Amino acid sequence: MNVRGQHYRTIWLKKDNAQVVQLIDQRFLPHQFVVEEIRTVEEMARAIREMHVRGAGLIGAAAGYGMYLAATQGMNLDEAAACLQATRPTAVNLACAIERQLASDDKLKTAQAIADEDAEFCRRIGQHGLQLIRDVAARKNGAPVNVLTHCNAGWLAFVDYGSATAPIYAAHDSDVNVHVWVDETRPRGQGSKLTAWELGEHGVPHTIIADNTGGHLMQRGEVDLVLVGTDRTTYTGDVANKIGTYLKALAAKDNDVPFYVALPSTSFDWQLRDGKEIPIEERGAEEVTRADGWSNGERVEVNLAPLTSRAANYGFDVTPRRLITGLITERGICQPNESSILTMFPEHAPL
Ligand code: MRU
Repeated sequence: MNVRGQHYRTIWLKKDNAQVVQLIDQRFLPHQFVVEEIRTVEEMARAIREMHVRGAGLIGAAAGYGMYLAATQGMNLDEAAACLQATRPTAVNLACAIERQLASDDKLKTAQAIADEDAEFCRRIGQHGLQLIRDVAARKNGAPVNVLTHCNAGWLAFVDYGSATAPIYAAHDSDVNVHVWVDETRPRGQGSKLTAWELGEHGVPHTIIADNTGGHLMQRGEVDLVLVGTDRTTYTGDVANKIGTYLKALAAKDNDVPFYVALPSTSFDWQLRDGKEIPIEERGAEEVTRADGWSNGERVEVNLAPLTSRAANYGFDVTPRRLITGLITERGICQPNESSILTMFPEHAPL
């Protein structure tokens, strides 16, 4: 996608030095655009754990490049895999990329293939989801199609295009009048910091809302479609995504608002039947009790809560398949159930 007119992916190999991986350090967005250079698998693991890069697709691509760096430096690859695997537990793309690299004879080629496929799958998701937005637009006679999204399932969460945002960009680029309600997404603010920035760079009209606003907007008929991403979806259609997604799905069900999840097939867990088994990341309490922002060009952190209060910080929740209208994949839209998912991806059906 374009940043101030220049095309970027979120991660790439340095042009004149194949021993260095470059990535957009998302901790500084939207106020600074910083490119970080990564030289070792340990540095890559830190970048994932501390969320310089984040989002399921990008975590997978970063792990692919991390394994490549480990191989070029003659490191024990099982140790490199363990180091990367320990970073974040929920996104299944991480394990998927690591396993693919362990089985590969050409780590550079495979790292590039993981990244290229991620971008291409997201581009196709955009084409399949575009029709959904067009259908709503046709009923609205030129009035804006209001899409609500949670967290950042945009190009910053992948290598390019994004999952939930790909249909939005495709619609905007085809002159469909689309407007996005952007959930702020506490505690880390991926919506207000990242999704809003992305949409703004692409010229898509959007409005940031506090996380608890979605239900109210749905009751007033101001949301036509909810479109979110996922870090791990079972082959039966239960969806783990950023904490708060489940509440949006409940509100959508109660108000007859279609609730779609956009995902590349690398975010399916082909082993897990029940969403309750998905590992849910718990992060540091300070992400809840403190907040960071920018003041006079400097990053500042402040306390929000009493210094003596405890806080819990669950990163994800699971939306059961009964609340989901459909899954938008690179092969098309399927129903959130085992039979529809395995019909679309027959290579994963049990023999
Ligand atoms: O904690 P994050 O920022 O990595 O969480 C990201 C999300 O929850 C996204 O919605 C998710 O990865 C799906 S889109 C890749």
